[in-house]
Amino acid sequence: MTTVLYRKYRPRGFEDVLGQDHIVSVLKNAVKSGRVAHAYLFAGTRGTGKTSLARILAKEAGCADEDLLEIDAASSRGIDEIRALREAVRFSPLRGKVKVYIIDEAHMLTKEAFNALLKTLEEPPAHAIFILATTELEKVPETILSRCQNFSFRKIPENLLKKSITDIAEKEGFKIDDEAAGIVALMAEGSFRDSQRTLDQILSLGNKEITGEMTREFLSVPARAIVENFIESVLDKDAEKGLEAIRLVAEKNINFAAFLKLLLRDIRSMILLKHAPTMKKNIQDIHGEKEFAFLEKLKGQAKPGELEKALKILLECCDSKNQSYLPQIPLELALLKILS
Ligand SMILES: Nc1ncnc2c1ncn2[C@@H]1O[C@H](COP(=O)(O)OP(=O)(O)OP(=O)(O)O)[C@@H](O)[C@H]1O
Ligand SMILES: [Mg+2]
Repeated sequence: MTTVLYRKYRPRGFEDVLGQDHIVSVLKNAVKSGRVAHAYLFAGTRGTGKTSLARILAKEAGCADEDLLEIDAASSRGIDEIRALREAVRFSPLRGKVKVYIIDEAHMLTKEAFNALLKTLEEPPAHAIFILATTELEKVPETILSRCQNFSFRKIPENLLKKSITDIAEKEGFKIDDEAAGIVALMAEGSFRDSQRTLDQILSLGNKEITGEMTREFLSVPARAIVENFIESVLDKDAEKGLEAIRLVAEKNINFAAFLKLLLRDIRSMILLKHAPTMKKNIQDIHGEKEFAFLEKLKGQAKPGELEKALKILLECCDSKNQSYLPQIPLELALLKILS
């Protein structure tokens, strides 16, 4: 493999951008009706399409390659850079209709730099478009926010990540099973880039067929049986079985965060299945048939409020998981609290 996947599969047009329909449709319309704004702010978690969409918008707005400037505010964060930008922006585009400045990691700009930028955002030349991108919206001053059209990028749902992982693997000539794609999607926490980077690593192991087992091993994700034993222990009120599951996780040096995530995901899905049957299809997509069958079977065994209590206690456990000298302690305590 020569290029990394996330570059190779970077969306090139509006139609390639997945999971951000609420933004794409507005931007598409703006382009179509010739009402592209002078300043945008794209905010949201990493790897969800901010930079990609900024480039697409530039192109669609008629910006030629030589008139597109990308500034990484993480490395050019001072007032001098922004002053230089202010000077440069006044000159007409070299070739296209507009000049586009993409300011990535915009939250990294210094206070002085923001102030300098503010002046330009107030009275931008007719040919200029600014697109600020940030993962930390709360660090962008109100004065900047109020001069930009703001778009909030969503975390990508697991089923969408899973589908895209499966598609990309196939295009690369690999076959990834449902379980493996599900694990990659789970661990990516809503980021396309993370999911693609993990897939890249797994593909480079060299197996043409990627299985769930292989993926679990690679990402230190616990075997399904351990997760299911823990959940059964909660419903059967069997402390010993639950503690044994935790012991196995520790012994096999499995990532506790991943174990916890899987527990939270399963229990939440059972609760949703109980209360919102219309979400069944979605849950089925995320979990795949085998896991789904397990959840369907077990949800019937839970007494009212039991799953909710477990979910709440495990959620509290998330914050403390790495602070203990024995990483299993918070989870052991959580289990005993659930059963008490
Ligand atoms: N909405 C999306 N649809 C399809 N692919 C996406 C999407 N978002 C991200 N990707 C994939 O992830 C890669 C990184 O996306 P991008 O650089 O646009 O993310 P970003 O939001 O700017 O992330 P960061 O905050 O880390 O800069 C892309 O090259 C692409 O492969
Ligand atoms: Mg980016």
